[in-house]
Amino acid sequence: MCGIIGFTGKQPALPFLLQGLSRLEYRGYDSAGVTLVNSKALRTWKTKGRLSELEKLLSKDLAESCGIGHTRWATHGVPSNMNAHPHMNEEGTISVVHNGIVENYQELREELREEGYIFHSETDSEVIVQLLDFYYRKNPVMKEALAKTVKRLEGSYAICVTSIFEPDTIYVSKKESPMVLGQSKEGTFCASDAPAFLEYTREILPLQDGQSAILNAGSLEVFDASGKQIEPRWIHFPYDVQAAQKGGYDSFMLKEIHEQPSVIRETLRGRFRGTKTVLPMIDQMNVRWDRIDQTVFIACGTAYHACIYANLLYQKYTGKVSWVIPASEFRYCSPNVNEHTLCIFVSQSGETADTLAAIKLAKAKGCVTISVVNVLGSSISRMTDAVLYTAAGPEIAVASTKAYTTQLVLLHVLVLKLAEMYGIKVKGKSRLISDLKRLPEVTEQVLGQEEKMKELAGMLIDQRDAYFIGRQLDYPTALEGALKLKEISYVHADAYYAGELKHGPIALIEKDTVVTAMATQPEVASKTVSNIRETIARGARVILITGENMPAEEFEYVVRIPEISPELAAIPSAVLLQMFAYYGAKEKGCDIDKPRNLAKSVTVE
Ligand code: F6R
Repeated sequence: MCGIIGFTGKQPALPFLLQGLSRLEYRGYDSAGVTLVNSKALRTWKTKGRLSELEKLLSKDLAESCGIGHTRWATHGVPSNMNAHPHMNEEGTISVVHNGIVENYQELREELREEGYIFHSETDSEVIVQLLDFYYRKNPVMKEALAKTVKRLEGSYAICVTSIFEPDTIYVSKKESPMVLGQSKEGTFCASDAPAFLEYTREILPLQDGQSAILNAGSLEVFDASGKQIEPRWIHFPYDVQAAQKGGYDSFMLKEIHEQPSVIRETLRGRFRGTKTVLPMIDQMNVRWDRIDQTVFIACGTAYHACIYANLLYQKYTGKVSWVIPASEFRYCSPNVNEHTLCIFVSQSGETADTLAAIKLAKAKGCVTISVVNVLGSSISRMTDAVLYTAAGPEIAVASTKAYTTQLVLLHVLVLKLAEMYGIKVKGKSRLISDLKRLPEVTEQVLGQEEKMKELAGMLIDQRDAYFIGRQLDYPTALEGALKLKEISYVHADAYYAGELKHGPIALIEKDTVVTAMATQPEVASKTVSNIRETIARGARVILITGENMPAEEFEYVVRIPEISPELAAIPSAVLLQMFAYYGAKEKGCDIDKPRNLAKSVTVE
């Protein structure tokens, strides 16, 4: 949820910390802080607000070559100067930044209070620095003190520690919150995410749960949970720093919308041989596919919408029993799942706490698990029996765009693969595969309608509400269009099955209400058209998204997607709705990449 960075080298640390924090601001941005360390003192600056507020407090000529930094998304305690990280011990000799949640922080606080410790913030994180102080006083060896501290923490953490006792050294430890390390000629880095230091190296070391590390200017040692030094396992980060920056667009969101043709192409690369799907991870699974009697699709937010789409496809292609549920509900619905259940989890970040909790439950019940994830080496990717990666690259904007469409594409391939594993023939498969391969080009054509979507988004300027409707495979698109619009423009937006309008929601339609309708599914398009007429009769202005050959002459605002199999129309339609939301938000002057109250990676339940 928060972004953390550490740097130790032979040159001033501050520029590295600030640059890293600016790349991590997508992880949270309600307060920011840094500590710089030298042998005499720790110097800490922190403030409520964006990184730019912190920069105003800092002079440019700070020479310390070791430091840590943090950008926060509040979970315990309001955004405030006091609650901002880093947190220090009473004497100001140890400084800590933390990402995650310490679930037992109240108990630990009580215990430490009895030892005479005073707490200054409302955060769960402050107990970490006080515990470190406590153990360090008993035995002044920081590695040991950190090991003892993390043993006491319940919950999740990625922690960086600096102290005046070893002014060139950073200690780190992690469990269930991400932490990557890197080394370059400039120095040694740790961060919540690789783009924080990608400028300097693309060789990264994702720390695993329970591991810790000691960073110095020219050295990096990694330890397992028992404290034994281990051989680091480096991976090559497949994207350059450009991929993690705006590349000339107004915002990350717009850049990411435009990246869709290429990331869809990457996601599909090598996935087919003739009419067979190529997903070796699935072939290698030790599963009796004939014994799978139900499949559950589980995720949160946008990824949950991708699951709704996949669930519909799965039922259509395999005729087998399946259902879909938000990860936050799965644990509490007493799911009747067992070793004959296949659970498919979808996540961009691979760190979403609700999804992680759902995986733990599915595994405890013996289910077969597959994940569709974007972030390499993330927690979710490591927990399931098999993982398939979307190739969306770093998604920085809080509102998910390219991760969504690549999820739809990869889930489509996965559903086709599962049909093969069950020995089920999917009708029209070769056409589907050739259309899947055409998607990059189709998406490119749809992006050509940007001006039109911008113009249509102008309708939203005076609107408090907007509605999205669709049937069948158009329904997840309606949900996603509404989510995109509400999260970045703050226009209240709802999605309905088109056929459900008349059962209640139509009461909300009045003169000039903006309704976006999808009618890309030939089997039900004429029914949706009837529902559109019903809303127009009540004064609505309807934007209709439909296929090339669908009759739509009677409607004023029509946007056509290129000819494609109806099963794939959700992808170009989603791209149109992303642009609609983007320009709606821009028109209203919203901070598109950093919508209020949201964070990119939701690592709390
Ligand atoms: C919306 C959005 C969120 C995420 C959700 C799950 O634009 O991005 O709804 O989709 O928080 O996140 P991941 O996919 O990282 O598990």
